[in-house]
Amino acid sequence: MKKIALSSDHGGYQLKMEIIEYLQTKGYELVDLGADSGESVDYPEYGAKAAQAIINNDVDCAIIMCGSGIGISIAANKFKGIRAALCFDAYTAKMCREHNDANIMAIGGRITTIDRAKDMVDLFLETPFEGGRHQRRLDKIDTLAADSWK
Ligand code: RB5
Repeated sequence: MKKIALSSDHGGYQLKMEIIEYLQTKGYELVDLGADSGESVDYPEYGAKAAQAIINNDVDCAIIMCGSGIGISIAANKFKGIRAALCFDAYTAKMCREHNDANIMAIGGRITTIDRAKDMVDLFLETPFEGGRHQRRLDKIDTLAADSWK
């Protein structure tokens, strides 16, 4: 069973708690990296926590949220080896796995209903990567970006 990290700022806090409740019923092992309340915090910290959990192999993947999903996905994507996909619906949640091998899904807590988020989370967790030409393109991202990580 997959081990999943969840993190959010205040804008994603409520949706994070609802997703945790949902995933608990499915038996996943979950790690809640905060935030711990709806009080205002800074999303970069929570994008970084999720990225580091993956890089350290503490979890298999992560679901992260801020108000729009934008800031926290930008923050997570700064880390080497992270492919954080900002998803809006079932289609983007499925594609981010099939074509992009996303290891993080970012969601906008202020624009996503829990029913839609449940579908997205199921697709993110259950859809396999297709590999092949998509792996070549992912390798190319790393090659093209490598200089900036030195
Ligand atoms: C916080 O107000 C908001 O800026 C944040 O949650 C996120 O949407 C940033 O991208």
